Amino acid sequence: MKSSAVTKYRPFKGVSLPDREWPNNTITKPPIWTSVDLRDGNQALPVPMNIQEKLEYFDLLVRIGFKQIEVGFPSASDTEFNFLRRLIEEGRIPDDVTVQVLVQAREHLIKRTFAALHGAKSAIVHLYNSTSPLQRKVTFSDASKEKIKQIAVEGAELIQKLAPSLPGTKLMMQYSPESFSDTETEYALEVCEAVMNVWQPTEENKVILNLPATVEWSTPNVHADQIEWFCKNMQNRNHAIISLHTHNDRGTGTAATELALLAGADRVEGTLFGNGERTGNLDLSTVALNMNSHGIDTGLDFSNISEIRMVYERMTKLKVPERHPYAGELVFTAFSGSHQDAIKKGIDRRAKDLAEDPETPFGIPYLTIDPMDVGRSYEAIIRINSQSGKGGIAYVLEREHGLHLPKTMHPSVGTSIYGIADQLGRELEPSEIKDAFYENFVNLDKPLELVDYELDHSAGKRGDVSCTAKIIINGEEKEITGIGNGPINSFTQALDNAGLKSFNLTDYRSHAITGGSDSDSAAYIQLQCDNSPNLIWGCGIDPSIEIAGLNALVSAWNSLHKITTS
Ligand code: KIV
Ligand code: ZN
Repeated sequence: MKSSAVTKYRPFKGVSLPDREWPNNTITKPPIWTSVDLRDGNQALPVPMNIQEKLEYFDLLVRIGFKQIEVGFPSASDTEFNFLRRLIEEGRIPDDVTVQVLVQAREHLIKRTFAALHGAKSAIVHLYNSTSPLQRKVTFSDASKEKIKQIAVEGAELIQKLAPSLPGTKLMMQYSPESFSDTETEYALEVCEAVMNVWQPTEENKVILNLPATVEWSTPNVHADQIEWFCKNMQNRNHAIISLHTHNDRGTGTAATELALLAGADRVEGTLFGNGERTGNLDLSTVALNMNSHGIDTGLDFSNISEIRMVYERMTKLKVPERHPYAGELVFTAFSGSHQDAIKKGIDRRAKDLAEDPETPFGIPYLTIDPMDVGRSYEAIIRINSQSGKGGIAYVLEREHGLHLPKTMHPSVGTSIYGIADQLGRELEPSEIKDAFYENFVNLDKPLELVDYELDHSAGKRGDVSCTAKIIINGEEKEITGIGNGPINSFTQALDNAGLKSFNLTDYRSHAITGGSDSDSAAYIQLQCDNSPNLIWGCGIDPSIEIAGLNALVSAWNSLHKITTS
């Protein structure tokens, strides 16, 4: 914004709460969760859901575990009305689920809402009218505070009068002073208490007072102050369930909800992945999973978040952003090398700790939760691009391809493979990483190729092996021989005898390749170039561990040759 534009805005004035207690509180239990996906969420969609889609979405919400679901605004349209009728008439509402319906404080709308509820076992009638100074001035043409309160009271009275018309329905009342967050808090309380006066709740038969941040005008601490002030100043606090309904205009809907829970609220309204007007409603999945990550069981099941996201995207025709907490495509992926190294170490360490103590609390650097707990896999954690480090590449080769590279081999493999990612200017798939590793390190056969070999264990002294190898060097076939204390050693001697040895063999490892369908072995050999500190690794892969070892030596020899002749 230009400075000239900023002058038209004013600081936000919150409620005065010098003795606030919420900063010292901790969230220890879940709130009552209410989904408003099918009302607030749906009404904000460019293409609202049809009845079939709403039915599927309703089933999804039930599967996740919501016990209170706002199913619409039945008086607003035939689709909304008929959707509720289908839920009731087709017996689709489980006995432990309560449907909630929204209605404005207007007589004909309230009557139509009650008509839609016939036959429901359990329902919440949610009455609202807007109370803020801005709404009173603009939307209600300078209506007085008294007039606005009267609208709420009359709506509440009509609901009270109509309640007996639903004798088979366990009915609960809810009132929202819409635009609570920019209403004078004392006045919002006055209106809520006037409504409570009509409904006469008790401790056993509470009302829900929903205090919406219809628009998020301020910082989350101001919202928490408003909620704590409200809870502390209302009469008969124990006759009401205090409910939150945040939106996300400043990007802090989650924080506002969490702080307001510290401030004493009991219930939270929101939507999956934060669908809703403008920047959206509160994202329930984020708040619930945040609680899970602190060891709080929420009653909501997001253990297959990708499937939930797929249904959500299909029904709403919206996309969950790639960086969205817990559900985004990239949120369990590390691109940076140092993060990849730390995650790999964390995974290995955790496996060890769990073997010793199965109750070890979760702790892996850069991961707030175990991706598996939301149905996502470790396999997708590490993707390789030019920012990636040696640990990440070794991790992919190990996890995806069963190759346990020696630690001192990681740097050279890392450098060569992320050089490829850099050239391509994109991340590499695990299969491309394997291809690049094979191309640069495995069974290299130019300019030296081992065509065939024979070992004779009866030659020389006890334990010695004589090797006769057929090789091709620079296109020319040769037979070379040597004696040593094992296949690799005798082949090294044969190279030496042929004048082809300008190295020391400094390391050798081998293992069976894990996880693959075939039973190949991998061998790794490190050579040190004569007269130079250069250490070169080569790898051999073959069903025979002996051939794998010899191939590893030839591969390292070829790499060394490339360096010394370039
Ligand atoms: O955001 C809001 O204030 C609402 C009310 C109708 C509860 O959605
Ligand atoms: Zn809303």
